[in-house]
Amino acid sequence: MADNIENSEESIPTSTKKKTTKKADSLQEFLDGIKGLSDSMKKRVHKVLNTEGIVDPRGIKSFTQKQLQQLPGITDVTACLLLDQFKTKTEGKIFLSLEEREELETVRSKIKTGAKALDDLLQGGVPTGTFVELYGAPQSGKTQICYTLSVNCLLPEEYGGLGAGVVWLDTEGSFNSQRMKQVLSYYQYTHNIPEKQINTDKFMVASTRSLDQIELALKEVGRFIPQNDVKLLIVDSLMDPFRAEYGGLGQLADRQKHLNRVLHLLMRIASAWDLAVVYTNQVQANPDPFSTAMDKILPIGGFVLGHASDIRIWLRRATSKIRKEHDAPNARRALITDCGWLPMQETHFSLGPFGICDVDEEANHRKLALDIGYTLDAPDKEEKEEEIKTEFASLE
Ligand SMILES: Nc1ncnc2c1ncn2[C@@H]1O[C@H](COP(=O)(O)OP(=O)(O)OP(=O)(O)O)[C@@H](O)[C@H]1O
Ligand SMILES: [Mg+2]
Repeated sequence: MADNIENSEESIPTSTKKKTTKKADSLQEFLDGIKGLSDSMKKRVHKVLNTEGIVDPRGIKSFTQKQLQQLPGITDVTACLLLDQFKTKTEGKIFLSLEEREELETVRSKIKTGAKALDDLLQGGVPTGTFVELYGAPQSGKTQICYTLSVNCLLPEEYGGLGAGVVWLDTEGSFNSQRMKQVLSYYQYTHNIPEKQINTDKFMVASTRSLDQIELALKEVGRFIPQNDVKLLIVDSLMDPFRAEYGGLGQLADRQKHLNRVLHLLMRIASAWDLAVVYTNQVQANPDPFSTAMDKILPIGGFVLGHASDIRIWLRRATSKIRKEHDAPNARRALITDCGWLPMQETHFSLGPFGICDVDEEANHRKLALDIGYTLDAPDKEEKEEEIKTEFASLE
């Protein structure tokens, strides 16, 4: 049924499409189908939902009944009617057989990370509809993975991308448009993609330095997702504003409650629009003197974040042996530390001038960058951090 709403525009013949000045309002059509609401009430609900960033009926799924009831002028009966209509029109069956469920999971698109080894670790890339947490020390490659994921999401399908939009919430002020363009131009160059074929208008970045701004942006995002067919939402980084706004142990409980609220909002958005939500996270040293090598370094955010993430990936500098062997001074390792369907496994990738690449590609990318005149960051200096040995042998 969701398709009916989605494809309602497709039934308009192409010749008449251009002449139509006003786009079909799927939210209005959806509201028109509700029997128990008067026309004036429908108008009012339409206006309220629009102000909340819902321009498409699928956006209703990102609200709970309680949240709908809290919107101005929406009574508990109206909220019930909206959700009932949504269930009958778009959700279809509540229970699925194993085969149906499997079918649903396999149709999920995978966003490539830029390094084949990392894609293989994730069985093809970052799946839509999931929460992926990238955590690690500064310079471990968290933001660089986000750039390459964004470009791979924007690339047209015939070039291995999804041809879909990306929303980026920049909470640390670290987003750099030049860097994003550098990564994008590499893919354009190597895949020989005509410039017009990549719609960079589908990429949107918001500077969200405070928690209020994050929540406001997540409210606004409902407008952009259907318009730009967004399939990837990046939050870089998730915990930084929480750390800034809630200091000290005394405020920990309040911080976790607030984090839980933001995570549930993200979950509803991800499930309403089948998006991949990728967030970066900082780390802290484990104060427990009896901690094992595996948990000497922990992602911040506690159990609340731990439960929300479907795939947790720990990023670190690769050992000097790996870096030398592959002539890859920027090599990093990625370890899946928690996932309900992927094994705990480690692999390597590199941070090159064009974003993420395989370790064996780093030298080629450096050469290509010099040939075409890109200035490079100085390769990492001698390792300062102590390398933490885990029982997970490096895959060489
Ligand atoms: N233009 C470039 N060419 C080559 N390597 C680059 C380039 N830009 C960044 N890098 C590499 O990326 C590293 C920074 O990685 P990244 O920005 O992903 O760190 P991060 O894990 O997000 O850190 P933080 O926690 O500070 O945000 C640099 O140290 C460098 O090795
Ligand atoms: Mg970063």
